[in-house]
Amino acid sequence: MQPLDVPRAIEERRSVKHFHPDPIAPEMLDRIVELTLAAPSSWNLQPWRIVLVTDEERRRALHEVAFRQPQVLEAPVTFVFAVDLNAWERDIEPMIETARARGAWPDAYCEIARQFCPQGQHALAENGLLREYAVKDAMIAATHTALAAQSLGLGSTFMNGFLESGVKEVIGAKDREEIAIAVLVPIGHPKDVPMNPGRFPREHCAFVDRLTD
Ligand SMILES: Cc1cc2nc3c(=O)[nH]c(=O)nc-3n(C[C@H](O)[C@H](O)[C@H](O)COP(=O)(O)O)c2cc1C
Repeated sequence: MQPLDVPRAIEERRSVKHFHPDPIAPEMLDRIVELTLAAPSSWNLQPWRIVLVTDEERRRALHEVAFRQPQVLEAPVTFVFAVDLNAWERDIEPMIETARARGAWPDAYCEIARQFCPQGQHALAENGLLREYAVKDAMIAATHTALAAQSLGLGSTFMNGFLESGVKEVIGAKDREEIAIAVLVPIGHPKDVPMNPGRFPREHCAFVDRLTD
């Protein structure tokens, strides 16, 4: 199958609640992971730590902590989008060095990143915003996942409906305070595709120059 282009993947994506048990071909899953990790992030820090839950027992455990929503049990894999709030301190230098070695970031910009990125991260921490900013990044990566899956003929759902402490336990991060869970995205072969529930008219949500509602 030819992958769907981006507009079609966006338009055809629905929140799938029921999946066939068939596994996802490894090369397809691999491609989805690759496209997920291609997502942009603030300062390119890539704070996501994505756990693909495939093991039957763990999927059952995840189902329990996701209010027994069927999609988690039925999908052959659920992407758990965790974020590591402290990872930037370890990751900043290798990240900058990669960009420099590729010729993407000139030395002058690398120095700017070395100076301003830590300042920014410390300011976020002082204001209790590290989690919010890491979660923003993870949500973009999760959107890549859903659209990549859609373009390859699979279905997905974004999920907020879970107990964070329970999800952390399932992925083996129970006692790690620096780990937060942004979203779950089960993926699989859709059993049925729900209808589009519709969107508000454009003037309800989109404005030019000023918010006028
Ligand atoms: C961040 C986020 C969290 C969501 N959490 C859940 C969830 O826990 N369970 C669920 O069944 N659907 C969940 N949804 C799906 C929404 O209900 C769905 O996207 C919305 O009704 C629009 O339908 P559509 O995705 O088919 O266009 C979530 C969607 C988003 C974006």
